[in-house]
Amino acid sequence: MDTFIAPTDRADLLRTAVNQAVDFLRDGEVVALPAETVYGLAADAMNPAAVARIFEAKERPSFDPLIVHLPHRKRLADVAVVPAEIAETVNLLIEKFWPGPLTLVLPKHESVPEAVTGGLPTVAVRMSSHPVFKAVVTSFGGPLAAPSANRFGRISPTSAGAVMKELEGRIPLILDGGACPEGLESTIIRIIPSEKGKPVFRILRAGPVTKDDLQPYGKIEWGNGQPDKKGQVAPPEVPGQLPSHYAPRTPLRLVENPDHFLPEEGKRYALLSYRGDAEDGYLDLTEWEHVLVLSPGSGKLPEAALRLFHCLRALDELEVDEIIAEPVPLREVGMAIMERLRRASYL
Ligand code: TXA
Ligand code: MG
Repeated sequence: MDTFIAPTDRADLLRTAVNQAVDFLRDGEVVALPAETVYGLAADAMNPAAVARIFEAKERPSFDPLIVHLPHRKRLADVAVVPAEIAETVNLLIEKFWPGPLTLVLPKHESVPEAVTGGLPTVAVRMSSHPVFKAVVTSFGGPLAAPSANRFGRISPTSAGAVMKELEGRIPLILDGGACPEGLESTIIRIIPSEKGKPVFRILRAGPVTKDDLQPYGKIEWGNGQPDKKGQVAPPEVPGQLPSHYAPRTPLRLVENPDHFLPEEGKRYALLSYRGDAEDGYLDLTEWEHVLVLSPGSGKLPEAALRLFHCLRALDELEVDEIIAEPVPLREVGMAIMERLRRASYL
């Protein structure tokens, strides 16, 4: 199969690309398209054969459930049954964060195929704010199942070129919406009602919507598989969030303390630095063959988040012996960055 990249950077091109995508989706095919987080591989969520095409293209194990993307807030009831005791909270979160990078895990509606939820009684659901994603899902008019558009266990793509490298020959079409503005997959939460006071939000996957963003509406709890205060990760509780995920081919090691890095004679190293300054000691550790900086402009976490997967891919292509990653602060979206780095790290 030939894989085509459709540009969307002019109104007429966007229209053509959206029509093409919707034709494929109605035919039960898969299409890659940009979300504000990462590129997704979409299919008609209500068509089990189309959903099976996602698993096939990604070589994804069938127990790993997919996220369902809605065309409109009002369509939530088509895919989920919201329990009365959390209805008010769900409405509040939807009002505040949708469309945007927050995924809610809710009891599933019986009409959602088992293939989407991996046989679970729950469904993960969100609404993307990316204009191209919105145009496609609105024109399609129904829910789209869309995991990240990478082969299973590999780095999520944040550009059309990266999707091409992952899935060329396996899918018919990639809509090119440029680089993804967030650069990390959505935050996933489960809402646990509480008898008194605010509900509990269990964060199953850290992402662009941070603990601080959610705190006004509920009590935050970190799910297993998320870093604790010391940054240690317990085994995941979410299916598919395997300990080794987001992995480049080149071994990556997250070095928490620069004093712990001792280069081996004859080995070639590349450094993934947070801000590129020597102050923290990482730049001075060795004669790095390559250095990529996560936040060269602002020196802040959102820039680091949007460049993380792009930099990991670029470093992977250098074919050095080892990528050394320097930690970022464990606050705001830094929590999500560190979670990805820990999973990518072989130690
Ligand atoms: O930003 C994103 O969320 C992107 C874009 C394309 O929307 N999608 C994405 O999908 O990251 P994916 O398949 O790479 O991650 C989906 C993850 C699963 O691996 C699993 O951890 C979790 O969502 N998940 C899905 N359904 C679930 C459920 N019913 N209960 C708990 N976790 C679930
Ligand atoms: Mg993924």
